[in-house]
Amino acid sequence: MNDAQPPADRRLAAQALAADDPTGWFEPLYAEAAAGTSMVPWDRDEPNPLLVDWLHATPQPPGTRGLVLGCGYGTDAEFVAAQGIRTTAFDISPTAIRGARARFPRSPVTYTVADLLNPPESWQHAFDLVVESITVQSLPPAVRDAAIANIRILLAPNATLLVIADIAPAPATSGPPWPLTRADIDSFTTPALTQIRVETVPRPDVPDRHRWRAEFHRPAQPNP
Ligand SMILES: C[S@@+](CC[C@H](N)C(=O)[O-])C[C@H]1O[C@@H](n2cnc3c(N)ncnc32)[C@H](O)[C@@H]1O
Repeated sequence: MNDAQPPADRRLAAQALAADDPTGWFEPLYAEAAAGTSMVPWDRDEPNPLLVDWLHATPQPPGTRGLVLGCGYGTDAEFVAAQGIRTTAFDISPTAIRGARARFPRSPVTYTVADLLNPPESWQHAFDLVVESITVQSLPPAVRDAAIANIRILLAPNATLLVIADIAPAPATSGPPWPLTRADIDSFTTPALTQIRVETVPRPDVPDRHRWRAEFHRPAQPNP
């Protein structure tokens, strides 16, 4: 790539958004990466340190059904499964899911292709722990409310939702990504989803940068 070209994610996102396809750039990006012509900018060898800290401090009971959404190549899903959590992980990109299975051939994780904007009906209220790390912010603001509403639907009674996102002081006007404001984080909350904690946590991997880490709980009975 020369200096005059935008990064692959922005180039492909611009094409997809011009075609009114908010998610149409992920598969081409992973396909370019598989062909060796681009890189997936969020790919990491290590699990997200904000997830690692949180899960070590918040051990989940035996039998917990976990869901990692927008799992990419699966690094975070493998960490979740290594904590004894029965883990499903999904991504809209078939190439990403093939990559996860190839990277972790003996994985206990159930990797599958699915679309957060149209999740399988059988997943409704089916998970005790849902992990959302920087996927909502990778979707344009026009579909953000729909994505968040669908995340809520995945939560079983008594479930926990962990949200990790980049911080925007004001609504982002260009992307990807479209980092989240405090109001965006608060918008996860409903009578059926209680906000437990919202933190701004320094990123150990990027100096002087922080991310939201927010924890929500779905009560067994919705709050009045
Ligand atoms: C910015 S990346 C984040 C990857 C990973 N969660 C992390 O924290 O590094 C967003 C991921 O979500 C996937 N994705 C985007 N929209 C999606 C959707 N509607 N349904 C499922 N996966 C989606 C993308 O393919 C990509 O792997």
